[in-house]
Amino acid sequence: MLALVVDVPAEVAEVAADALWSLGVLAVEEREGAPGRTELWTSLGDERDEVLAAVSGFPVEWRVRFEEVDDAVVDTWREFATPIPIDDGLVVVPSWRSDDVAPDAIAVRIDPGAAFGMGDHPTTVLCLRTLRPILATRTSPTVLDVGCGSGVLAVAAVRLGAADALAIDISPAAAAVTTENARRNGVEHAVHASTTPLAAVHGTYEVVLANILAPALVELAADLRRVLAPNGVLVVSGILADRHDHVLAALAPLRVARTDVLDGWAAVTLTH
Ligand SMILES: C[S@@+](CC[C@H](N)C(=O)[O-])C[C@H]1O[C@@H](n2cnc3c(N)ncnc32)[C@H](O)[C@@H]1O
Repeated sequence: MLALVVDVPAEVAEVAADALWSLGVLAVEEREGAPGRTELWTSLGDERDEVLAAVSGFPVEWRVRFEEVDDAVVDTWREFATPIPIDDGLVVVPSWRSDDVAPDAIAVRIDPGAAFGMGDHPTTVLCLRTLRPILATRTSPTVLDVGCGSGVLAVAAVRLGAADALAIDISPAAAAVTTENARRNGVEHAVHASTTPLAAVHGTYEVVLANILAPALVELAADLRRVLAPNGVLVVSGILADRHDHVLAALAPLRVARTDVLDGWAAVTLTH
């Protein structure tokens, strides 16, 4: 099962724990974090969407990440995982399933392992749907996937025509899982996964994807602007449809080109 880890300044640990309890989580474990910080570990459980939506409104200095905690539960979940149709012919398939997909379909085979991203979360579906026409109108663009999790977006981007994709995540598990998923899909030559922080990424990218919760997007906003090529597009998701103005404000002067909404979540496409 994926644990939700909220890394907060030590002095607000109690307030943050209360906020998590009020979401209805079953347990909150406090662990010592980096100097001056406390980590609150809790499970996403069945209320995944509700908890993620609520966490999305947490203050910027509360850093959120996901960690694998219990393989047994993951294995139970695996039995029920099914292929996720994204849009015309694009489908994300759990790599351990042998379902038939249409011969002309683009099947992206993913095992999320200890990372976030089976392709079924509304924000991932929105990113993939948004990505498709963007890639169709550009010639082999370069892609940066910030918060790659399982690598589903980076791998799909290369399968859909990107020249290559740099996939980064603060979770070491995510980098390893992304590399493995790239290999599964025959695009390991073009997907480069690492824990390089966005602040240390040089150069610019024509397509930048960031499916990360709002507090992290706000924190990363200046670097997201910096790595976006002059003619590039930035797609941010992980944000609530009715509460993301603060993210857009942080990304200004980037301009909103379009907003797509699914199940209360939004993906916003921005340009210079
Ligand atoms: C909602 S998941 C998205 C995973 C995948 N891109 C998808 O669409 O399924 C967000 C990911 O962002 C990562 N993350 C959170 N803060 C980050 C940061 N500051 N820099 C890079 N990755 C971050 C988390 O570890 C997590 O894997």
